[in-house]
Amino acid sequence: MRHFIIVGLLVILVTLGTYFGLDAVGLLPVDASAQASPIDFLWDLQLIVLSFLFALIVVPLVYSLIVFRRKPGDTEDAVHVEGNTKLEVTWTVIPLITVVAFAYLGAWSLRETRRADPQAMVVRVIAQQFAWSFEYPEYGGFITDQLYLPIGRQVLLQMTSRDVIHSFWVPEFRVKQDVLPGRETQLRITPTRMGRYKVRCAELCGAAHYSMENAVIVVDQVAFEKWAQEQRMAFETAQTPEQKGERLVRANGCLGCHTLTGQVLVGPSWKGLFGSERKFADGTTTIADEAYIIESILNPAAKIVAGFQTANPMPAYVFDEEQLSYIIAYLKTLK
Ligand code: CUA
Repeated sequence: MRHFIIVGLLVILVTLGTYFGLDAVGLLPVDASAQASPIDFLWDLQLIVLSFLFALIVVPLVYSLIVFRRKPGDTEDAVHVEGNTKLEVTWTVIPLITVVAFAYLGAWSLRETRRADPQAMVVRVIAQQFAWSFEYPEYGGFITDQLYLPIGRQVLLQMTSRDVIHSFWVPEFRVKQDVLPGRETQLRITPTRMGRYKVRCAELCGAAHYSMENAVIVVDQVAFEKWAQEQRMAFETAQTPEQKGERLVRANGCLGCHTLTGQVLVGPSWKGLFGSERKFADGTTTIADEAYIIESILNPAAKIVAGFQTANPMPAYVFDEEQLSYIIAYLKTLK
């Protein structure tokens, strides 16, 4: 009996130590959405249960190794034990109840994270190799490469992909959803904490999957309205060809592969591109004039710059002549 009491107390101590130890490490980032609460609750509960299971296995094991060690000269066999129905029923029924309870809690948390608010603001999310773009249909349909969200209001993300499967994931919001070509998937998020986060792609989608990140910015209602109206104005009022070109470039995710800074991603940087000499994989060269740029946009595989490979699948973009002229006007500004 004495041994049971000691082991019982040690199990409690090790359970608490393991749980608070794991908790102190900070395994999760801050929680920034209403959908994070049920998920974090479930996570916490599982940490407690697994800390207890860990203690339940390790404490009796280590205790037996030390206390019931064979004495020198002791050659007797241990007492033979043949089954114990009560014990076997107990260690079957308790885990069964635990697993069923967790299944119920899992279904409950899934329902909580999908709870729909009829006032939710719709944002369309377009994923492509290797960038995200966001369209705001309630504000005239402008498109940006940053996801701005007002705090406290549910947003309904209607998501689709231009090419392969991606996965929308902001760790601070906890919820995650695959984004598929030819099909719309949805995610509901109610931001509860202002700040700057990042949407990451959580599905291996190609060479620059790791860099498929865009800013997510949660601001108060007033700041959001101001930002949205500014974007709308910029989108709707007449602009210079250069501005229109930049808008097209950002809305179509071009900067997921091409930087403006000279840094090399999957595709060549656009810094100083226009008018420069291009060297190709087949050894030929040309000057980057309008004809070359139009060809490269509409048929990216036609000329491959030396040191790069054709993307697979190669994105196909449809722009009309006017749009192409805007993009070229913008490229000319990138000295
Ligand atoms: Cu998109 Cu990984």
